[in-house]
Parts: sequence; C-alpha cells; structure tokens
Amino acid sequence: MKIFSLEQVDSTNTLALELAANGSGHGTVIWAKNQTGGRGQQGRIFASPLGGLYFSLLLQPDLAATELPLVTLAAGVGCCLFIERYCDLEVNLKWPNDLYCRQYKLGGILTETTPVSPNRTVMAVVGVGVNINTSPEDFPGEIRALATSVYAETGKRHSLKNCLSSMVEEIMQQVRVLEQDRDKLLARWNEHDYCKGKTIRWNTGRRCITGIGRGLMDDGRYSLEDQSGKMHAILAGHLQPVP
Ligand code: BTN
Repeated sequence: MKIFSLEQVDSTNTLALELAANGSGHGTVIWAKNQTGGRGQQGRIFASPLGGLYFSLLLQPDLAATELPLVTLAAGVGCCLFIERYCDLEVNLKWPNDLYCRQYKLGGILTETTPVSPNRTVMAVVGVGVNINTSPEDFPGEIRALATSVYAETGKRHSLKNCLSSMVEEIMQQVRVLEQDRDKLLARWNEHDYCKGKTIRWNTGRRCITGIGRGLMDDGRYSLEDQSGKMHAILAGHLQPVP
C-alpha cells in the first residue's frame, strides 16, 4: 500500500484518476484531510469538512469488465465491516454504496474507472468518504439533519491514519473475496442492505417509482417491487426510503 497524504485537495478521486493515467498502480492511496470539491454520485457535491476520512484507492481487480460495477459493492462491504469491528457501530448500505447508520448518512463511495497503458486495462478508483470525527455543525445546513458521524453516534474519536490503513486493507480483502467467490461477497452485501423490505422511491432522473426494496440481484442490480407487483431491476438512479 502506497499512501500519498495531503492537507487539502479539490477531490482525491480527480487526483487519483490523474495518477492512474500517469502510471500509479494497484494499491496506491490518496488521502486528504479535507476536500474543496469533493464529488458524490450523480454529480452531487460531497461536503468534506475536517474530521472526516476522505481517500481514493487505485485497484486493478482481476475481473471481467462486466463485473467492475461490483467493485463498489465490495468496497461498501469492506467499509461496513471495518466500522463495525473497529468503531463498534452498526452500519448498513443503501444501494449502491451509501453508508447509513440508523436513518442517517455516515458516508459514501464513488467508484470511477479509467483505461491505463500499456494494454489499456481498466483501473478502478474507489473514492471513500466517511464521517468519522465530524460534528453535525461541521456540515452545511441543508445536509446537517441528514448526516451523522462515528463520533456523533458513539462519542468516541479515532485516529484517521489508523482508520485509513485498516479500512483500505478491509476493502482490498473484500475485493479479493469478490474475485474468488462473487456469491459470498453479494451475501455479505445483502446482510447490510438498508432498503430491503422498506418502502422506497426510485428516482430515475426522468420519473419516480415507489415500491418495496427486494434486495440485490446476482449481477449487482437492485430489485424493486412496485405497487402493482411489477419487479424493476435498478441499474442507475437514486433510491430514497419513504418515511
Ligand atoms: C456519495 O455519497 O455520493 C459518494 C461520495 C464519495 C466521496 C468520496 S470522498 C473521497 C473521494 N473523492 C471525491 O471527490 N469523492 C470521493
């Protein structure tokens, strides 16, 4: 594991994509104490105040191109297992890769890919942001009521450096599980499914469908049963539990 640590950067994912294009390899980690332009899924901004853990991990997994979307699921499992063991806090996953503690967002994962030379194989950049020592007042007003942190939940602060190396190890371990036994990895993800059995709204960007979360499918898509009993296989978009 080779770790580049920075006080501040716009986005560790953006920097990691540049490093991957310039030859940095599997296991390289970019860690920043805070980000001025943290990026979330679907082009959203990811607020990254001091106290959170923000890093990007370069991975070149031994997987077919069609299986690459599963890397993000493996990373989510790795983050959950780490936080549960190390911080003694129960965490769930909202498909595809939001970390939830109770009904509050604890973190998120943004995986991006880029082809790399010499044979244009694909490198995955797994970007992880977890609210570890952050306090609610550190977040901008509009997300303050929706977010939580390990510190807010447990009253304990943790060394970000220790969290970083152990979380990276756990993510790499779960990616190895995915490479060797996809069903095992998917079963671990299912054990942490936040939406299963809940009423959820799926926003495709063009329309909203409300139904019951029915869990992960074998290919990593998420299944939703709508009010007429029709099943939908979700590949993209945003899931929102309905209170
Ligand atoms: C989301 O919740 O939508 C995903 C958030 C991913 C945030 C992490 S923080 C480290 C890395 N750098 C970024 O710009 N984004 C990811």
